[in-house]
Amino acid sequence: MSMRMRKKRNFEARMEACKDLLLARGAGGILNMKEAAETYRALVDFREVFGNDNPVALEIGCGKGGFICALAKREQGVNFLALEKMSNVILTPLEEVRLQGIENVRFLNIRAECLPCYIPEHSLDAIYLNFSTPLPKLGYATQRLTHRGFLETYKKLLKKGGRILQKTDDREFFEFSIEEYKACGFRLENLTYNLHENGNPDWNIVTEYEQKWIERGLPIHRVEAVYLGE
Ligand SMILES: C[S@@+](CC[C@H](N)C(=O)[O-])C[C@H]1O[C@@H](n2cnc3c(N)ncnc32)[C@H](O)[C@@H]1O
Repeated sequence: MSMRMRKKRNFEARMEACKDLLLARGAGGILNMKEAAETYRALVDFREVFGNDNPVALEIGCGKGGFICALAKREQGVNFLALEKMSNVILTPLEEVRLQGIENVRFLNIRAECLPCYIPEHSLDAIYLNFSTPLPKLGYATQRLTHRGFLETYKKLLKKGGRILQKTDDREFFEFSIEEYKACGFRLENLTYNLHENGNPDWNIVTEYEQKWIERGLPIHRVEAVYLGE
């Protein structure tokens, strides 16, 4: 086992201590969405979980969670779901939300492929994709989080008028994503190939990966894809 993969100290006990913030944990290695949705259907009741009817936004691949913590503190009238497949990684934002007493964030420690098992149809106002793993187009296109297979799922989860907000440093992946959005009938808004052209916009929350790429002088691409309804 490499250093990178080593579990954090007291990992299980620390996960257990955060379990009230964790709505779902690991549906194994299931990749087939239809099979997963049928086998593990456990839809989250947002009103029960958050105690209100505020809009709900989801971040897929939250990593260490700096983005979701900052956004949740700024937008207290929105409920946030943070999804991350790596349990060793999600422990960091789980503990941070606990430490900071942030009340409008809950976590899903599952693969994005399993989302339809947990999220009710047409219940989300926004989906954030921040620096999703680009994966090589050749051989892995269907696993990219903006492949049309995923976009069709997001269309089922988003409310009409809801939007996907994507940032990436990877130009090829960005252009692939734009083609996929168009093919699936999303309307594109606020598209930029250089978000930081005139410095960081005051509304933009810089993620951990974004900070790395800014320091290396790489341009950040961003787009919003609006779901227009069927
Ligand atoms: C490159 S990191 C970006 C992390 C963070 N969003 C940021 O901008 O700093 C991508 C994250 O997405 C997670 N991820 C990748 N594919 C996923 C999937 N299919 N389901 C859930 N999480 C996934 C990875 O484990 C990783 O933590």
